[in-house]
Formats: sequence, structure tokens, C-alpha cells
Amino acid sequence: MDFIAQDSTLLAATSALALVGLIFCTSKLASFVKVLLDVYVLKGISLKKFGAGQGAWAVVTGATDGIGKEFAKQLAKNKFNVLLVSRTASKLETAANEIASEYGVETKIFAMDFTKGDVQDFTQLGQVMSSLDVGVLVNNVGTNHDIPTPFADEDDKVINDIIEVNVKGAMKMTKLVVPQMREKRRGLILNLGSFAGLVATPYLSVYSAGKAFLSTWSQAVGTELKADGIMVEHVNTYFVVSAMSKIRKPSLLIPLAKPYVASVLSKIGLPCGADIPCSSTPYHTHGIVNWLINNVFNKTFWVNQNDVIQKDIRKRALRKREREAAAARKEN
Ligand SMILES: NC(=O)c1ccc[n+]([C@@H]2O[C@H](COP(=O)([O-])OP(=O)(O)OC[C@H]3O[C@@H](n4cnc5c(N)ncnc54)[C@H](OP(=O)(O)O)[C@@H]3O)[C@@H](O)[C@H]2O)c1
Repeated sequence: MDFIAQDSTLLAATSALALVGLIFCTSKLASFVKVLLDVYVLKGISLKKFGAGQGAWAVVTGATDGIGKEFAKQLAKNKFNVLLVSRTASKLETAANEIASEYGVETKIFAMDFTKGDVQDFTQLGQVMSSLDVGVLVNNVGTNHDIPTPFADEDDKVINDIIEVNVKGAMKMTKLVVPQMREKRRGLILNLGSFAGLVATPYLSVYSAGKAFLSTWSQAVGTELKADGIMVEHVNTYFVVSAMSKIRKPSLLIPLAKPYVASVLSKIGLPCGADIPCSSTPYHTHGIVNWLINNVFNKTFWVNQNDVIQKDIRKRALRKREREAAAARKEN
């Protein structure tokens, strides 16, 4: 009799465990299928919702190179007028002329160095923006550690610049644009995030923490602004070919800026691989990697991977510096 009772208890426990396992595996599989649908099949919210083709403007920071320049171009292609904000006036003029003649939209430029955090710059830029119907703000401008460097040895200027540009710059730009977006109950704010903010990255500690700030801040502010008809999207990004990444050759995981930006603009509102509010990882392979990071192994594992990768990059960067210094000595 006892044996029968024990057997049935064991059977019940095994069945319960099997059921929990089934529910767990099914939910994981369903979340992975959703990522595949998002990145490969579904279309995001149309840019028309934010004023494309209706005289609205897109404001892009860091718009003279890399991802920012591509945003400026593709938003113009989608019939936004574009205000390009960046550091170098001559590069701004060239980019704005290129865009105006290629896409037949209006362009304006504003030159400022975000590392200065100059109140006057932001006030003047605010005045320019308040005269425009701004539908989209792309908080793209960013700066990074020159090479992976231990925090204790990092230059104070580099640390301050990263905070001033990547963190404070995005907040100040958002403050400038939100009042008019609120009034019109329409607007899209894209904040350029990084996988360095998803997984803490030793030797790029300040950049990594700044991007984590951007992720958390986007979730909070995005939730606040939803009721005002404003959409905030933290755009989570793995490597893209650019001056900042110092990667020149595209690969399956590392796209050129053009397909990368096209993925962002075609997937607005879809989380793709991201599993937090107001966030998207729109580039297809980035989305899948984001899902893997969230679902396979734990964060300690991924941080340790970053540690190994960054130590290796640092070693190579230091060797390159030595080679360059030796070549310079030879020349003199
Ligand atoms: N590339 C990647 O692999 C990657 C990965 C994850 C996230 N992201 C993020 O994507 C964003 C764009 O990166 P990117 O790779 O396209 O960078 P990039 O190629 O280095 O371009 C940076 C742009 O920002 C401008 N800029 C830099 N410092 C500035 C400052 N102090 N004041 C004003 N403008 C300044 C540059 O202007 P000048 O031409 O005058 O220098 C340039 O137009 C960044 O937020 C970055 O963190 C990039």
C-alpha cells in the first residue's frame, strides 16, 4: 500500500516537473520565434506617423559621419527635412548640401562640440529647433575610450567627455525637443545604445556604464512620455562599421551603417531582440545575439567574455601604438 502511495507521489512530482519544464521551454521557444518574426518578417511603425512627407524635421546629432550621417540621409530619403548637429562646420556643410541635392529636402546645420556642454550652444540650438516642426530626434552623437583602458588609468578628460556627450548630451537634446512634441502629441526620439550597456564591458567601463544609463533612462522617460504621444526608443547596437568601432570590413554580425540604419527605421516599435520596455535591437543578427545574451548562460559569463575580448583588443592597440611610435621615431 505504502509503495503504491510513494509511486503515485513520485509520478505526480515527475509530472509537475515535466509540466514546468514544458512551460519553460515553450515560453523560451515562443520568445525566440517572436524575435525571428520581428527581425525578419514584421514591419515597424510608419515614419509618416512622425511627420514624414508633411514638412516635419528630423534632428540628428553626430550627423557628419558613420551611423549619424546615415540617419540624416535615410530620414531625408523618407522626406523629412533634416537639421544636422555635429562638431565640424565644414563637414556639416558638405553633408547638408549632399543631402539637400540628393533628396530634395530642406537642411539646416548647427555646429557645436558636445564635450563642452555649453549652455549657450544648447540655448541657441533650442531656438533653432523651436522654429521647426520637429518630428524625430536621433540622439546619436557618441564618444568612446580611445582604446580599452583600465578605469584607474583612464584620462579624466576622456571620462568627462563620455559623460558630457553620451549621457548629458542626450538628456539636454531631449529636454529641448519634448515641449513641442508634447504640444503636437507626436514625436519619435531614438537613443543610440550599445551592447556595452547591455553587458558591462571592462576596460570600456565609462562608455559601458553611460550606455547602461541611456538604456534605463530611455525606459523610464519613454514610459512617462507615452501618454503624450511621444515614442522613445533605445536602439541597442552591436558593432557597426565606423570610425568609432575602428572596424572597416562588414560581416554577418557587423553591418555597414546603411543596412544598419535601414533596419532601425523599418522596425520602429518592434523590440526585435530586446526584452525591456522602449527598446529595440533591430538589426537581424544583433537581435538574435541580444536574445542569446538574455537567455543563454548568465550575465557573469557574458561580462567575462567581454573581459577577454577587451584585454585582447587592448593588447593589439598597444602594440599598434608602439609600432606607430617606432615608425615616427625612424622618420625624425
Ligand atoms: N559603431 C559602432 O560599432 C557602435 C556600436 C554601438 C553603438 N554605437 C553608437 O552609435 C553612435 C554613433 O557612432 P558611430 O560609430 O557612427 O560614430 P562615428 O563614426 O565616430 O561618428 C561620430 C559622429 O559624432 C560627431 N561627434 C563626435 N564627437 C562629437 C562632439 N564632441 N561634439 C559634436 N559632435 C561630435 C562626429 O563629428 P566629427 O565628424 O566632427 O568628428 C561624427 O559626426 C554613438 O552613440 C555610438 O556610441 C556605435
